[in-house]
Amino acid sequence: MGTENSVIESIEYTEEEIQKRIKILGKQISSDYDDELILIPILKGGLNFAYDLMKHIENDISIDFIKSKSYSLSRKITSPNIQYNPSINIKDKDVILVDDFVDTGETLLKLYSHLKVYEPRSIKIAAVIIKPDNPKISQIEKYFLWNEKPKGFLVGYGLDYDEKYRNIPYIGFLKKELFEK
Ligand code: IMP
Ligand code: MG
Repeated sequence: MGTENSVIESIEYTEEEIQKRIKILGKQISSDYDDELILIPILKGGLNFAYDLMKHIENDISIDFIKSKSYSLSRKITSPNIQYNPSINIKDKDVILVDDFVDTGETLLKLYSHLKVYEPRSIKIAAVIIKPDNPKISQIEKYFLWNEKPKGFLVGYGLDYDEKYRNIPYIGFLKKELFEK
């Protein structure tokens, strides 16, 4: 495996800043809901964030997973392929769908619509980064750590390039020579 130093051009969000914002968000979510919550991390990118976020939510939490793969090495968006075999009944429950990075919002909208069929009381999304002014998901209520448009290809903290680098504890720009070759 390449070391972090050999693949990261520059750090965009440090581990400390990510964890600090997660604590604040956890408090906010805890005060927004009275009842139990169902967290549904989107595999695989939403896993790191969901794991840290749930530690700061005071409500009772149940976890289920949904899986989607929406981009390939070339970053071309193809139709997301959804895998959801519910182990928890979400009917009339409050659901938070947890993702790493909402780019065009296409993936998220498809997953959101997929879950709606199960008639939850509410669905919100929580993502580490959401690009601003995203018309596809303007109707969906969102929690985020950053509402920004990054100026490069990000990896770390769930974000991958060719399935690698999800384990880096911070988020940084991948060196250009690694994804342009
Ligand atoms: P969307 O459907 O356009 O919102 O994006 C789907 C997915 O593309 C995101 O959840 C990410 O997993 C992936 N993606 C988009 N931009 C980046 C990036 O800069 N780094 C890593 N993954 C990315
Ligand atoms: Mg993703």
